[in-house]
Amino acid sequence: MLDSKRTILIVALLTVVGLAGASVARAEDGAELWGKNCAMCHGKDAKGDTKVGQAMKIVNLTDPAIHAKIDKARVTKAIKEGVKNEAAGGKDMKPLAAGKLDDAQIAALADWVVALKP
Ligand code: HEC
Repeated sequence: MLDSKRTILIVALLTVVGLAGASVARAEDGAELWGKNCAMCHGKDAKGDTKVGQAMKIVNLTDPAIHAKIDKARVTKAIKEGVKNEAAGGKDMKPLAAGKLDDAQIAALADWVVALKP
């Protein structure tokens, strides 16, 4: 009896530790994926403050005005289908996901971008 209670306790503890570990890993994934796939244009801090970013007229993704417009669905769509640049003389963002990022990676990236909300 005592043994089975102890087993349940251990399983419960391992589950909690496992879940905490998984969510940390997911947060890191978003930042890591951003660094590999997005930072060269948007900048590591997503402010668009890179040479490429300035040339393409990329918006500052940490700006509250942007976060009023974007959500997870819109960022997902941006990665999958690309973005039409609204600034005069700006360049569009090409669909980047094709054959490169899977749905889990896209979701992690979208969460990361949404979490930039000031
Ligand atoms: C080749 C350069 C380039 C790369 C790489 C790039 N982007 Fe973009 N991104 C742009 C441009 C250009 C725009 C359009 C101008 C704007 O709205 O900032 C844009 C716009 C966006 C927007 C604004 C969408 C909206 O609805 O207004 C989001 C979000 C975004 N990119 C996310 C990402 C993510 C996530 C990645 C990595 C998977 C990425 N971008 C990689 C150039 C790039």
